[in-house]
Amino acid sequence: MDKLLIHGGTRLDGELRASGAKNSALKMLTASLLANEPVTISNVPHLRDITTMIEILGSLGVEVVVDEKMNIEIHANTIKSFTAGYDLVKTMRASFLVLGPMLAHYGQAIVSLPGGCAIGPRPIDQHLRGLQALGARIEMNEGYVHASVDGRLKGAHFSFDFCTVGGTEHVMMAATLAEGQTVLENCAREPEIVDLANCLNAMGADISGVGTGTIVINGVESMHGCTHRVIADRVEAATYLIAAATTGGRVKVKEAQQEHLEVVLTKLEEAGAEITVDDEGIELDMKGKRPKAVSLVTAPYPAFPTDLQAQIMVMNSIAEGTATVKETIFENRFMHVHEINRMGANIRLEGNNTIALVEGVAELNAAPVMANDLRASVSLVIAGLVAKGDTIVDRIYHIDRGYEQVEEKFRILGAHIERIHSR
Ligand code: EPU
Repeated sequence: MDKLLIHGGTRLDGELRASGAKNSALKMLTASLLANEPVTISNVPHLRDITTMIEILGSLGVEVVVDEKMNIEIHANTIKSFTAGYDLVKTMRASFLVLGPMLAHYGQAIVSLPGGCAIGPRPIDQHLRGLQALGARIEMNEGYVHASVDGRLKGAHFSFDFCTVGGTEHVMMAATLAEGQTVLENCAREPEIVDLANCLNAMGADISGVGTGTIVINGVESMHGCTHRVIADRVEAATYLIAAATTGGRVKVKEAQQEHLEVVLTKLEEAGAEITVDDEGIELDMKGKRPKAVSLVTAPYPAFPTDLQAQIMVMNSIAEGTATVKETIFENRFMHVHEINRMGANIRLEGNNTIALVEGVAELNAAPVMANDLRASVSLVIAGLVAKGDTIVDRIYHIDRGYEQVEEKFRILGAHIERIHSR
């Protein structure tokens, strides 16, 4: 398993370009199953999770052509199987989202249950209830969800019990080919959902209201091909901005979109960063200062994203003052806390492990660390960048799932970081 070796103590300084959003691109690859013609997705990040999704499409018999610039062309009408197996689905929960598009287009789909994951149990009850509201027959059999419908799905009025990103995307995709109108209430509003809807509309869907709590989908009989460019990855972009703030440095992330990161930028300003936004992207300058601690609560968009909680926790760990960080999205997303504490941080978990009380310390010290979730792992890299000495971050295949060329990008910013390959 590869590791990252980080020699800490350098202030990050430089410019880089944000990659395309993983959490948009993954869903667009599944959405292509709705079309009768080839769909081309561009600005796709070169990541392990994308490769897994391509493998899943391949396992269905779907032809996928990838060029050297990561433009991905999907020929869904070459599909030969409607079963997505456990071996692939268990490695990435987003793969479960092939179910709705296959069901809507071909009337049948058999997809393995995704199961739990490191950050919590993550059920799919809302996905299934939404599909059932559209008339899908759903049966569970030996760990697989068997979904079917005679003819087309039927438009319906459905309200999610709570905000779910995947649930909103899944039911929205299925409803595009349903007969009549679907109204979805209490929808999640993340920018990736808007991006997905723009892609679906380019394929001939009729979706409105996306980005608000109520999405209206007028079903169409068929969908055609399109070319769609994925938005910039707001979580990746903000990870580099937070890393710059933590090290007292200056970083410009080109293509990062201010409107997708408002709450995060406000928090970074509260921490003492100077933020400048122009046509090219977002620049953060800490001017060598130690950050001030910032308290926050994670919640669905537009609030502070759970996917940046671990990274900002590291910033808080070396900040001036005390912060409270509350996680409300996932049950078990504080794994990084124990590892950062091993590097000398002073973080206490309370409230049944949903609240972290962070007492800023003057410095962190290098240690061998590892985490079993993507964002927790990258937070340890940030900890390594600011720590005294050489930190080794183990199990970085998690980082490779979501951060394109992570060590190259940090190196562009002046970090001393290298990958240790192991067999
Ligand atoms: N939930 C249910 N039932 C459902 C669906 C969700 O109980 O049917 C629960 C989940 O267990 C969780 C909460 O609702 O506690 C929110 O889950 P949501 O469905 O919103 O998350 P997701 O679609 O599984 C996506 C991202 C995550 C990101 C979350 C929240 C993708 C591929 N994943 O997950 O990204 O943290 O939304 O914003 O889009 C990451 O990129 O590192 C990552 C984990």
